[in-house]
Amino acid sequence: MERPLLSFTLLSPLLLGLMSLGRMSWAWTAPDCTIADSSLLPNISYYIPFCSLAPGLHLFASCSNVKDLAQTLTAVPRDIEALCLQGTVPFLPADAFGHFTTLQLLRLQLGTISITSGTFQGLNQLQHLSFEHHAPCCLSLFLPPDALEHLRLLNTLSFHGYCLNYSQNIQLPISLRHLTVRHSCLIELRELQGLFPNLVPGSSPTTSPSPWTSFLEELDLSANLQLSQVGNRALDGLQLRSLRLDGTPLSALDLLGSGLLHLDSLSLEGTRTERLPGNVTRYFELVALDLGRNQIQNLEDEDLLSCQSLEFLSLHANGLQLLPSRFLNDLPQLQRLNLSMNKLGPTLVLPEGLVSSNLRVLDLSHNELCVLPYRAFSSLPQLQELRLSGNNISNLSSESLEGLRWLKTLDLSWNQIKTLKPGWLSSLPALTSLNLLGTHLEHISGKQLQGPQKLSHLQLGSLEMLEIYPPWPPALLSLEVRADVYIQFGVPSGEPFLFLENLTLQTSNMLLQLDNNTIHFPSLRHLTLRGCSPYILSGHQSHRFFPQLPLLEHLHFWSDHEGADDLHLFGMPSLRVLELGDLDFLCQPTSVKLEKLLKELPQLQVLVLSNLNLGNLSASSFRGLGPLRLLLLNSEWALGLDSSLQELIPQMPQYVYFSDITFTCQCESSWVGPWATQAPNTFVYGLEKSICMANASDYSKTPLLSFLSGHCSHDPEFQSFLTSFTLVFLLIFLSLLGCPKWPWLHYLQTLFHAWWWKLGGWRPRNQFHYDVFISYCEQDRAWVLKELVPALEKPLPVGEGLRLCLPERDFGVGQDRMDAMVASMESSRATLCVLSCQALGSPWCNLELRLATYHLMAKPGTARLLLLFLEPIDRRQLHSYHRLARWLQKEDYFDVSQGRIEWDAFSEKLRKRLRKAGQERED
Ligand SMILES: *[C@@H]1O[C@H](CO)[C@@H](O)[C@H](O)[C@H]1NC(C)=O
Ligand SMILES: *[C@@H]1O[C@H](CO)[C@@H](O)[C@H](O)[C@H]1NC(C)=O
Ligand SMILES: *[C@@H]1O[C@H](CO)[C@@H](O)[C@H](O)[C@H]1NC(C)=O
Ligand SMILES: *[C@@H]1O[C@H](CO)[C@@H](O)[C@H](O)[C@H]1NC(C)=O
Ligand SMILES: *[C@@H]1O[C@H](CO)[C@@H](O)[C@H](O)[C@H]1NC(C)=O
Ligand SMILES: *[C@@H]1O[C@H](CO)[C@@H](O)[C@H](O)[C@H]1NC(C)=O
Ligand SMILES: *[C@@H]1O[C@H](CO)[C@@H](O)[C@H](O)[C@H]1NC(C)=O
Repeated sequence: MERPLLSFTLLSPLLLGLMSLGRMSWAWTAPDCTIADSSLLPNISYYIPFCSLAPGLHLFASCSNVKDLAQTLTAVPRDIEALCLQGTVPFLPADAFGHFTTLQLLRLQLGTISITSGTFQGLNQLQHLSFEHHAPCCLSLFLPPDALEHLRLLNTLSFHGYCLNYSQNIQLPISLRHLTVRHSCLIELRELQGLFPNLVPGSSPTTSPSPWTSFLEELDLSANLQLSQVGNRALDGLQLRSLRLDGTPLSALDLLGSGLLHLDSLSLEGTRTERLPGNVTRYFELVALDLGRNQIQNLEDEDLLSCQSLEFLSLHANGLQLLPSRFLNDLPQLQRLNLSMNKLGPTLVLPEGLVSSNLRVLDLSHNELCVLPYRAFSSLPQLQELRLSGNNISNLSSESLEGLRWLKTLDLSWNQIKTLKPGWLSSLPALTSLNLLGTHLEHISGKQLQGPQKLSHLQLGSLEMLEIYPPWPPALLSLEVRADVYIQFGVPSGEPFLFLENLTLQTSNMLLQLDNNTIHFPSLRHLTLRGCSPYILSGHQSHRFFPQLPLLEHLHFWSDHEGADDLHLFGMPSLRVLELGDLDFLCQPTSVKLEKLLKELPQLQVLVLSNLNLGNLSASSFRGLGPLRLLLLNSEWALGLDSSLQELIPQMPQYVYFSDITFTCQCESSWVGPWATQAPNTFVYGLEKSICMANASDYSKTPLLSFLSGHCSHDPEFQSFLTSFTLVFLLIFLSLLGCPKWPWLHYLQTLFHAWWWKLGGWRPRNQFHYDVFISYCEQDRAWVLKELVPALEKPLPVGEGLRLCLPERDFGVGQDRMDAMVASMESSRATLCVLSCQALGSPWCNLELRLATYHLMAKPGTARLLLLFLEPIDRRQLHSYHRLARWLQKEDYFDVSQGRIEWDAFSEKLRKRLRKAGQERED
């Protein structure tokens, strides 16, 4: 007696847990929310509303038009890592997010809000919290002093577009590292003292010394358009590494009297600064100073001398015309210098001779540079990264790059390069990454890239055409080639790219020098093709560019709007992510079937189909895509979702997204509505926003779901399906649990069964009036009554003595046939359907078969369906064949189409089957 009791106490919480777990994972679909896992498809933000994430976070929900917060959140899965909410919610009650214990990022864009002390209660994992309002400044936000205090892991706090002057004394958690107050109505820095007293204790005697031991790393006060004053000792006691004041009218010099003692990094982008703030740099001993988008046209020696501590300096977009010759000598610590978007080109003179420079990164992009002088960079022996993009350089020689022994990255894109001299890279032995996009080169031979032994990342581009010849750089890992008209790979003897992992090709035509050749990419993992004609992946061996790609995991293929009939995806057994775009599947005269394309991709997890003119999708389109976890359909016109697709519901991918789709208005799709709102295991996004069109000239923009609910009769099939699915899910789950080592689980199982049957309103299942319910149609009646029934009803010991239920004999007079049928099926051990071609043609017989199918699925293991074929019939003609195939076993089919029937053998087989069903039921 002890054990069951114990188990029961153990089980009740488990049961409850299971129930809530069930609720959780079945309420997937969330109106107005997108739920996604960006680890499956990093590019997902391109297609669906996104929640910009922090590094390491993937699982997010992004909800818009939120009005009733509680209601929105009920539909959001509990285990998400990031949550973005946009809408109008004036008040956030206590414990508003308490269910989301794993939440790490919360972004609120909810208009004017007030918050209580307990609003963020329970968010023990929260690391990033932001309040945003993007229309013109500013809304008011009320935050009680203790609202954030208990967020022990909070790292980043951000206010954007809010006035905080109604809130005072906000206690910040000591874990905070980044605080942002942008676009607020701050006028004076001193206001921070009142707002965040434990951050800026100030000199006020009333605030007791806080236990603030660690310090904030970054304070971002950018875009505060009224922030013009500092206030005496305004930042007294504030400890900080980095301060951003971009786009504020504050004068950097005022910071000197602020009481701020320490600062590593100061950003003053777009502050109309006209002079290098030397005194400020010296005072704080700044390491990093960003002065981008200002008006500093000259650098005074006096200012430079005050900047000796700098390791990073950005002066991009300042209209600088001249660098003083002592520039680098004056900044001996400098490691990164950004001079992009100035006008240094015509006069650039980099210092000659030996300079004790530590410079590692130099950006001279967009400076109208035409020539690189002889030994231009020889005074920068430590340089590792040199950016010269967007200049007018046409001539490159090894002399101009001499002395760059440690250079790893060279960006020469978008210049006027027309030729490459052999050996021009010979002085760059350490080069790993070279960017030559946007040149005027027409031929590039591997010989021209010789010198650097470790060149691994290469980008080549020409405006019209580009021919590339081996030898390929031996260590190449990543290659991008672009040319509008064509790219030709000259590979007379099929030189493989041995280690290449990433290949991007952007062109209209890919050519091989010899038609009968192929190139081998034995290590390729990511292949991106943009604008290419599909024949690049053609089925003809002689045209095929990529014969085998054994390791390929990601294929992104945007074509040029041609027909897809040349496209063949084979030889890619490891493909996990497939993005196909801009193809025409229904292109005349040969339309292409999706299934044909996908049939050899056994590992596919992510499928993105964009602008493919797919037409009608049916279950067969996705046959065999077992591991698929994400399906995204984007930019389709007149898409149809066939009713056969509901066969796939149990195996549907976890995420199904529709973005920018116009459907065909057809009742074939009527299952879509209930599916999208009640999908048991799939998150469906985008159907509420989709419209449908009746024909090509229908511009009425009917919302799909309202068309379906208004014009198509409600499909009972789906409801019954859902019920059965739920059940099956549970039972599978339980049978998994039914591990013999844990005897108490048996009680759970029994308990659960009982609970479930009760919940479903089913009767206890041990009362069977009949052994077999026989379903047959009018045309087969004679055979049934003359042969089948007497054979089965023949009493023991000669026959089986089975109790049969025949509709016309056993249904009560005047009883509704439908009701009677359901009731009789439920009170029979098994249902035997007699099938002939005529039966399949009769709606009534079909209905019985359907009902039996539902019944079977609703009570797997207890209901039993047997099919008896009177004539040879292709089983695929059966309604719900695919479902049946999944549920029935070989012994459930009886074939009597081969002439005379051995009644004894038949009865024996039937009896065995019934007995087995009986045993299964007992288990
Ligand atoms: C993301 O998708 C867009 C749209 O097709 C494409 O242009 C872009 O290159 C993709 N980015 C990546 C990283 O795949
Ligand atoms: C808050 O700041 C705004 C803008 O400076 C101002 O109009 C408003 O009066 C201030 N409110 C309070 C309570 O100080
Ligand atoms: C910088 O400081 C020096 C003295 O330390 C002073 O002479 C000079 O005027 C200051 N420059 C500015 C712009 O305040
Ligand atoms: C230089 O600054 C521009 C503008 O902020 C930026 O785009 C570029 O990446 C920077 N260069 C380097 C090497 O960081
Ligand atoms: C640089 O090239 C651009 C575009 O080719 C041209 O408009 C500009 O005049 C050139 N500048 C110089 C200084 O040669
Ligand atoms: C190849 O591309 C992927 C995805 O863009 C990237 O994560 C990976 O680092 C790249 N590999 C190389 C060798 O560049
Ligand atoms: C390709 O064709 C050329 C002549 O058209 C022939 O010389 C060469 O052997 C062929 N190569 C292969 C690999 O069949």
